Amino acid sequence: MTCIVAIDQGTTSSRALVFDESATVIATGQVEHRQHFPQPGWVEHDPLEIWENVRESVALALARASLTRHDIAAVGITNQRETVVAWDPSTGTPVHPAIVWQDTRTQPLIDRLTQEHGRHAFVQETGLPLDAYFSASKIRWLLDHVDEGQARAERGEILVGTIDSWLLWNLTGGPDGGVHATDVTNASRTLLMDLRNRQWSDTMLALFDVPLACLPDIRTSSDAFGRVSQTSLLREVPITGILGDQQAATFGQAAFAAGESKNTYGTGNFVLLNTGSQPVFSDNGLITTVAYELESGELAYALEGSIAVTGSLVQWLRDSLGIISTAAEVEELASRVPDSGGVVLVPAFSGLLAPHWRSDARGAILGITRFTNHAHIARAALEAVAWQSRDVLDAMVADTGTVLTELKVDGGMVVDDLLMQIQADALGVPVVRPEVAETTALGAAYAAGLAVGFWESMDQLRSLWREGARWEPRVDSEARERAFAQWHKGVDRSLGWAD
Ligand code: G3P
Repeated sequence: MTCIVAIDQGTTSSRALVFDESATVIATGQVEHRQHFPQPGWVEHDPLEIWENVRESVALALARASLTRHDIAAVGITNQRETVVAWDPSTGTPVHPAIVWQDTRTQPLIDRLTQEHGRHAFVQETGLPLDAYFSASKIRWLLDHVDEGQARAERGEILVGTIDSWLLWNLTGGPDGGVHATDVTNASRTLLMDLRNRQWSDTMLALFDVPLACLPDIRTSSDAFGRVSQTSLLREVPITGILGDQQAATFGQAAFAAGESKNTYGTGNFVLLNTGSQPVFSDNGLITTVAYELESGELAYALEGSIAVTGSLVQWLRDSLGIISTAAEVEELASRVPDSGGVVLVPAFSGLLAPHWRSDARGAILGITRFTNHAHIARAALEAVAWQSRDVLDAMVADTGTVLTELKVDGGMVVDDLLMQIQADALGVPVVRPEVAETTALGAAYAAGLAVGFWESMDQLRSLWREGARWEPRVDSEARERAFAQWHKGVDRSLGWAD
């Protein structure tokens, strides 16, 4: 049997999935890594732990599938985006922990640049507003806080990249000839890439004073990136696909035509709408990003609504409030009550991303009465996931005039039937889950498989999409809009709290 291996390096765990030609998952391996919060607003990962976990998850998946490297046609990589790693290429040692996408330590730099230039000064160039979410300010911080960081980066003695680059460099040999490259989708999240020519932008490199010498080459998402090195289980297997995880999920959902979209429920939620071969810019708080670019020439841009806290809200209910003991229990707890009893929970733990982009917002639980219990809080948490998604989908409709007729969903939380029902009720349109809900890994597998002829065409990929489940809205529009207005009252109260 010949298969494709997809490595999905996410915010909380690393996974490897083996797919066969019918896009069926043959086996998976998964290893969680630690989250480090050294100061309020800081979030770090250990890049070596991640690299180790990736190797372990590949070993687990291959063993479970009873396959060897000879059965694997190609490897695809997908990854948490924006997170930055800096390392010494002579040893492969990271010079600092990875700064994770959720980390807001660079807000002072962003504030200064925003004051000087305006928040939207570089949107036409990069698709992005000035924000601490993206990689550029994190790279600046690293080069300022590592011994002689700037000078070493200028000499290429420190390499910098997003997680895909860190993994690619290690997989292809590390200090012994490792390839330093990234793909357009990951590069489009750095604030350093020119959205139109899809190369590093001189303007942006100058603004953040980032030396070109430390950055990876930008390639298409289905390039021949290199072969896995001799020392690995997958030795000699070509790596031919890389996409940031949200773009990979869009590709895995076969959202290849302008107007097609998806919503992924992970640590955060990320809605992407394919806008075709030209970038579309938002008047309603969305960002513009590359959806994919293939070696064969297909190119698509997307509008994205990035929501920071959804799955991590359920983790917070488990780890910090202790009202559930596993994430899956939230569904049972929330289903004990018919509604949230008037409670609104706004999970603005480190501000709000799309469509608000307010770093001064903080979390709020409103409407508590003596009647309120754990189940109401759990239900309000699920509703917060759904309302945040509705906010970004409304922005997409306003920006493009696209009419939302149904929502394709994927990601870890879509196994929660109650959440999916709440989402359909919040939108007033059906929510549809594909049979293979592992669309993030599947998207990376698709890109890698197309490059080596494992799959022949995007039409073939589209034919592999199969509906798995569907939820129809059950509440009337008046009740829906009343609840939505209540949510917005909660959001308004959370804004400015951190001032
Ligand atoms: O932009 C951040 C995003 O890529 C993280 O995705 O799935 O690791 O929560 P996930």
